[in-house]
Amino acid sequence: MKFFIDTANLDEIKEASELGFLDGVTTNPTLLSREVERTGMDPNDVLKKICEMVEGPISAEVVSLEVDGMVKEAEKLSTIAKNICIKVPMTKNGVKATRTITEKETMVNMTLIFSVNQALLAAKAGATFVSPFIGRLDDIAHIGIDLVSDIMDVFENYAFPTEVIVASIRHPLHVVEAALIGAHIATIPFKVIEKMFKHPLTDIGIERFLADWKKIANK
Ligand code: E4P
Repeated sequence: MKFFIDTANLDEIKEASELGFLDGVTTNPTLLSREVERTGMDPNDVLKKICEMVEGPISAEVVSLEVDGMVKEAEKLSTIAKNICIKVPMTKNGVKATRTITEKETMVNMTLIFSVNQALLAAKAGATFVSPFIGRLDDIAHIGIDLVSDIMDVFENYAFPTEVIVASIRHPLHVVEAALIGAHIATIPFKVIEKMFKHPLTDIGIERFLADWKKIANK
C-alpha cells in the first residue's frame, strides 16, 4: 500500500518525508490556497518545492472547467517537474481532457469520484489514478469505504491499470479500512498520520520500561 500525504503545507510535507515512507502528495485548490496564504509564495513555487521534496506523483489540480482550458493548464503545470500529476475533476469535459493529457504521457488523477460509474469512466479515459472521497460520503450517511471496495472489484474484473487513491480521509480508521480491502493508495492528512503512531499502551509501556531501568541505573 502506498502512502501519499494530503496537504500543500511544506512544513508538514518535510516532516512526513523524513519519516521515510512517503510515496506521493495530493493537493487541491483549497489546500494550495491555504499554503499560499500562509507563506506568501507563488502557487507554482509551492508545487515546485513539493516536487523537489518528494519523488513520487504530486497532484496539482486544474481549475478550468473547459477541455481546452484543462489541457492548457495541464501543459503549464507539467513543466514544473516530471512528477507532477494533473488532477482533473470528474466531468464530461474532465474525461475528454484526461484522454488528451495522458496521451502526452502525463499522469492524471481523476478527482471528486463518488460512484463506481464515475471511476469506470475515468479508467476508460486512461486516468492513472482515481480519487474516491470517502469522508465526504460518510458525511452524507453513505459508507465511503464501500465505494472503494466496489471500485477495486470492478478494476480487478477488467485488469484496469488505474490505481485507486482513497481520498478525503478523516481519521485513522479510514486508513485501516482502506488497507483491509487492499486499496492501492491512501492519501492522508498530516494530523491523521500523527494519530496513526499513537497507542496509549505504547506510551504506558515506554514509561514503565524507563521507570524500571532508572531503578537499577541509579544504583
Ligand atoms: C484529495 O485528493 C482530496 O482533495 C482531499 O482528500 C479532500 O479531502 P476533504 O474531503 O477532507 O476536503
